[in-house]
Amino acid sequence: MKKISFKLGLLFFVFVLGIETILFASLYVTLVNLRIHEEFQQLLARGNNHRDVLEKSFDPATLEHVATMESEAETDVVITDDTGKILCYSDHILPIAERIIENTNKNIPHRGMIAQKNWQKESHISTVSPIRIGGEIKGYVYMFQNTESIQNMIDKLKHHFMAVGFLSVLLTIITIALLSRIITIPLIRMKQATEKLSKGDFSVRLQVKGEDELAELGKAIQTLAGDLEYLKKERNEFLASISHELRTPLTFVKGYADIARRPNLAEEERNRYLSIIYEEAEQMQKLVKDLFELAKLDQHSFQIHKEPTNLCSFLKKLHDKMHPAFEAKKMSFAYHCEKNITVHIDQKRFEQVMMNLLDNAIKFSGEGSAVSIEARREKHGIVLIVSDEGRGIPEMDLPHIFERFYRVDKSRSRTNGGTGLGLSIVKEIVEAHGGSVRAASEYGKGTKIIITLPEG
Ligand SMILES: Nc1ncnc2c1ncn2[C@@H]1O[C@H](COP(=O)(O)OP(=O)(O)O)[C@@H](O)[C@H]1O
Ligand SMILES: [Mg+2]
Repeated sequence: MKKISFKLGLLFFVFVLGIETILFASLYVTLVNLRIHEEFQQLLARGNNHRDVLEKSFDPATLEHVATMESEAETDVVITDDTGKILCYSDHILPIAERIIENTNKNIPHRGMIAQKNWQKESHISTVSPIRIGGEIKGYVYMFQNTESIQNMIDKLKHHFMAVGFLSVLLTIITIALLSRIITIPLIRMKQATEKLSKGDFSVRLQVKGEDELAELGKAIQTLAGDLEYLKKERNEFLASISHELRTPLTFVKGYADIARRPNLAEEERNRYLSIIYEEAEQMQKLVKDLFELAKLDQHSFQIHKEPTNLCSFLKKLHDKMHPAFEAKKMSFAYHCEKNITVHIDQKRFEQVMMNLLDNAIKFSGEGSAVSIEARREKHGIVLIVSDEGRGIPEMDLPHIFERFYRVDKSRSRTNGGTGLGLSIVKEIVEAHGGSVRAASEYGKGTKIIITLPEG
C-alpha cells in the first residue's frame, strides 16, 4: 500500500506498541514481585507468631496446639528440634518438607528467613523461624504454603493484563487510524489539487482551516492556482491582441498587393499602392520589434545592469539626440535638472524609456507646443517628469494606458504608427529599476508622465 495515512499510522503504531509493551511488562513484573513478596512476608509473620508462642512455653501441649491451628489453615507447619528432628506437624509431612529441613543451613537470624523461594517450580514455598530460649536454640518452626494459590493469583493477574493490553492495543489502533486520517486528508486534497493544476485545470478550491504549516501549504497552492489561472487568461488575451493587431495590416497588405499586381495599372498608381504596402510592413516590423522587446523583459533571465549615472548628463545626451525630431515638428524641447543627482540605472534601457515617452509627447502634441523634462530630488526618491502640451488623455483612459495594446484612439493610432506597447515597455523597465511610473493628464491641455526612482 502506498497510502500515506497507512504508512504514518503504521509508524505511529509500531512506536506506541513498543512503548506500551515496555510499560505493561515493567508494571506486570513489579506487581508480581510485590505480591510474591507479600506472600512470603505473611508466611514468615505467621511462622514468627508460632515461634513467639513456643518461646513462651516450649512444651508438647503448646506444640500440639500450634499444629492444630495450622491444620485448619491453608498453610502447613512443621516444628523440629535443634537437630532437625521433627517434633510435630499439621496434617502430614510433605516430601518437600523433609528435603527443605535437611538442606536448610542452621544459621538462621531470629527474625526468620525464607527457606524455599522457588514458587514457580516447586509445589510449596517455605519459611523458617528459630525458637530461641535463654540464648539457646531449641528448635525451628517451618511454614509451608502451597504454590498453587500463588500460581492462581499470578494467572489471574496475567489474564487481567492480557485483557487490558488487548483493549489498549485496540484503542491505539482506532485512535491512530482516525488521527492519521485526519492529518492526511488535507494532504490528499492538496495532492489532488496539484494533480488538477498540472493537467491545466486551475479551478481548484481548497478549504483551508487553521494557521499551521498544512494550512499555509494549502493557501500557497490556492494562490498558485489563482496566479496560474490569471496567467493563462492573460496569455490568451495577449495572443488574441497580437493576432488582432497583425490582422489589420495584413489585410491591407494583401488587398493592396492584389490591386498592385493588376497588369493594366498606371505606374503612378502602382507606386502609391506599393508605398502603402511598405508602410504597413514597417508598422508590422515595429510591432514585432516591440513584442520582442516585451518578451525579453518578461523573461526571468531579463537583467538590468545598473550603473551610477549623473542624471543631468544623461538628460543632456538625450536632449542632443532627440532635438532634431522636435525641430522637425517645430516644437520646443527643454530639460531642467537639479545638479548632482546620481541614479543607478541601466543607461541603454532607460534611454529606451525616455525615447518612448518623448515619442509619445511628439506624436500626441500639435506643432509649436513645448515639451520639457524635469528632474528633481524629493523625499521619497528621484522624480522625473515628462510634460507636454498635447491633446491629453481622457480621465477614463488614464488608468489603462500602461496596459499592453491600449490606445486611447484605436483608429487614429494606425496613422501615427503606434503599437500600444510603448508605455507597457516603459512600465516594465522602470519597475525593474525598483521605481514606479504614473500619468497625470488634463484632456485637451497636456500630459505629465511621472517616474519615481529610488535614490542612490
Ligand atoms: N503624451 C501623451 N499624450 C496623449 N496621449 C498619450 C500620451 N502618451 C500616451 N498616450 C496615450 O496612451 C496610449 C498608449 O501609449 P503607448 O503605450 O506609448 O502606445 P502608442 O504610442 O504605440 O500608441 C497612446 O495610444 C495614447 O492614446
Ligand atoms: Mg508610444
